[in-house]
Amino acid sequence: MKSNPRPRKRRFLIFVLVLAAGGATAWFGWYKFFRQVEPTPIASDEEWFKHGSLGSESQFGIPYWIWVVLPRIFPDLMPGTGGYKSFGVVWEPGSELPVGFTKKTVGFPRVGNNCALCHVTTYRLKEEENPVVVLGAPAHSFNVQAMFRFFSQAANDPRFNANTLLSEINQNYDLGLCDRLLYRFAIIPFTRRAFIQQGQQLAWMDRPGKPDWGPGRDDAFNLPKYFLAHLPEDHSVGQCDFASAWNLQVRKGTNLFLNWGGESPSVYTVLVDSSVGVGARPTRDFEPNMKRLDGFLSRLQPPHWPYPNGPYAIKADLAATGKALYQQQCASCHEPGQPQCNHPVPIKEIGTDRERFDSWTPEASRKTNRAINEGMGAHRPDTIKNVGYLASPLDGLWLRAPYLHNGSVPNLRALLQPPEQRPQTFYRGGDLYDPANVGFVSSGPAAERGGFLLDTRQRGNGNQGHTYGTALPAGEKEALLEYLKTL
Ligand code: HEC
Ligand code: HEC
Repeated sequence: MKSNPRPRKRRFLIFVLVLAAGGATAWFGWYKFFRQVEPTPIASDEEWFKHGSLGSESQFGIPYWIWVVLPRIFPDLMPGTGGYKSFGVVWEPGSELPVGFTKKTVGFPRVGNNCALCHVTTYRLKEEENPVVVLGAPAHSFNVQAMFRFFSQAANDPRFNANTLLSEINQNYDLGLCDRLLYRFAIIPFTRRAFIQQGQQLAWMDRPGKPDWGPGRDDAFNLPKYFLAHLPEDHSVGQCDFASAWNLQVRKGTNLFLNWGGESPSVYTVLVDSSVGVGARPTRDFEPNMKRLDGFLSRLQPPHWPYPNGPYAIKADLAATGKALYQQQCASCHEPGQPQCNHPVPIKEIGTDRERFDSWTPEASRKTNRAINEGMGAHRPDTIKNVGYLASPLDGLWLRAPYLHNGSVPNLRALLQPPEQRPQTFYRGGDLYDPANVGFVSSGPAAERGGFLLDTRQRGNGNQGHTYGTALPAGEKEALLEYLKTL
């Protein structure tokens, strides 16, 4: 019997139509969710450092329009007025996003982060003056923990729903019917789930007995320990200051280390691990980005002491006396090129709070090394468990307050006091400068306003140890302090 050719033809036609529809759906899905639009190249290194994408948007990007409206829907969940500014980010006038925030279209416009989030700061010499923005300085006012908490609390709040978010977005921008549907049925629910999940993954930071990080700090080595090495939660606390990231030229050389606990054996390791930390992954742009960061941060110089004249100008004679003291008592550990500089001092010898040091283990090193090198294919010299805290160069020291790895000493004058005379509590987070004590204003109304009370009696916040220079006679301390301002 001859088979009827017509049904076969029809089946073929249906097959082609299904394939075409499938292809169109796949293309639509790719276009709306994954299509990467390369941002306009940013020629200036400074501008690129502040807002350039490292590729974090694919992993951790927040849909731009959701990012825009969240502070308006949840002002009650923010630490203060002013939207994202209340987390202490640097937001320059006329700029669409705060410093450290990036925007890139991956299917839809998303907001990501880069290094500047924690490595750009501001200072003011007078309360009423405009803040001066400094690249590469520790972002001592920025409270990353408060920002993490905000996103997870918002996502767990019943107001985080498509109706509320879309009606707020609609007041700013017409998404169009198609995108509105995508936001309603995909982007908003996905984002909510991602925030909730991130909150659950960060639950360890809110356990009883773990002090708040507060502004200018995070638990730098517990983050990769749990997120990348997937180690079970332990009881460690490792809150520590954001470091300065300028002048990396003096951090390079064989067998020199970085990070507070000397865990990283090369600048390249820090660049790769920090990029992975913000959500960048080794794709096509990764190496060029590492190279650009390396070039920029190696050249970037810290700013000079900001009082060229007047009562706080550096007194050259006094500073010269101080320099001799520094050479005798400090240089062997802190001067680049000297034997102990960029090397850790054994924990017992340095005597500072050991919690941050103990938060990292050989196993955490092994597992994160594997996750980054083998899992992601970013080959960099491995991190290790070292023996104590790092003696780093003191460049730009005046702008690196509060001092020590955990930011437990408000200013340099206090650091030159014996530990029992250093302030037991003080406020941190404000950007008003205190030239007499060499640090930020850390007590009184200006410091209290929006400041974070750091209590050195809490776990991981101890202000003991590092007693170098504390036994000098008062006049010599004054001279040493004068010299330290010049660094
Ligand atoms: C969320 C805040 C945050 C972000 C974002 C961040 N850092 Fe850091 N950075 C830190 C903290 C905290 C430390 C100190 C960590 C430690 O040693 O325990 C640090 C340390 C460093 C150091 C080491 C300095 C030293 O003295 O040893 C360098 C260099 C650095 N970061 C560069 C970068 C670069 C480059 C990026 C972007 C790719 C980046 N950071 C992103 C918080 C951050
Ligand atoms: C034996 C080595 C050694 C000597 C000597 C030494 N330091 Fe340090 N210094 C360290 C180490 C290690 C740290 C990090 C300790 C920590 O953060 O817990 C440090 C930290 C510091 C910091 C804090 C830096 C920051 O960014 O917070 C300052 C300031 C400092 N030292 C100044 C001095 C001065 C001034 C002298 C001389 C009077 C001196 N040091 C002598 C090893 C030394």
